[in-house]
Amino acid sequence: MPTARELLAFYLEAGVDCALSETPVNRLSEEAAVEERPAPKPALFRTANPPAIVPASIPSVPAPDAAIMSAREIAPRAASLQELRDLLERFDGCALKSTATRLVFADGNPEAKIMFVGEAPGRDEDLEGLPFVGRSGKLLDLMMAAIGLDRSKVYIANIIPWRPPGNRDPSPQETQICLPFIRRQIELVDPDVLVCLGKPSSQAVLDLKDGIMKTRGKWIDYDTGTRTIRAMATFHPAYLLRQPIYKRLTWQDLRAVQKALQG
Ligand code: URA
Repeated sequence: MPTARELLAFYLEAGVDCALSETPVNRLSEEAAVEERPAPKPALFRTANPPAIVPASIPSVPAPDAAIMSAREIAPRAASLQELRDLLERFDGCALKSTATRLVFADGNPEAKIMFVGEAPGRDEDLEGLPFVGRSGKLLDLMMAAIGLDRSKVYIANIIPWRPPGNRDPSPQETQICLPFIRRQIELVDPDVLVCLGKPSSQAVLDLKDGIMKTRGKWIDYDTGTRTIRAMATFHPAYLLRQPIYKRLTWQDLRAVQKALQG
């Protein structure tokens, strides 16, 4: 019989590191299957200017299609990064919000000429409320330092601003729900150069179909909505921690990024 400590160690190893409720639920039992969900609260989106309260026509956690439509409708309304952040704090269309500790919106300089976009926060980011502060964040800091950058000169965000439980991959629906917000975030930061870290970011943001091996290191045009900027996909630092052999290619990509920033 395993001890409680061994059981917890096993859960942690399996990625189960957060409790969703006070009491355990046997999701395999029939009772749990018909268990009633609490009635959804009406969602409210407060607009900043004028400070009106606009009732949304959808419930708290709407079906993915409704949530995607809602996100597409409200994200472009944010007139500033602060408004976008407030909007996300009020947006209940993505179920990941209910399991995450907090919103992980961004780090760095909103005036930066370069913006990095990762996938989703992990455990450390969820605890601190900042993107890329864990092991892969430390490597990202080194990658940036190699081309003379640090967090005062870059802006960093993720496609998904809430940690998926147990660091699972975000579902395609979750990605689609969050996409209008990161697109608006890019438009508001208005960098000259956009770097997408890893396959999920480059596929979602840059609409690239191929894997990272094929797409990395190539400049493509990205339409922010107000202008066209240069964008590039490169390896995600978490991947480089597992496959350090690709650091060499990443170095080439970073040199190209450095050149582009120098104009
Ligand atoms: N991986 C990401 O894609 N983003 C983070 O913020 C941390 C790890």
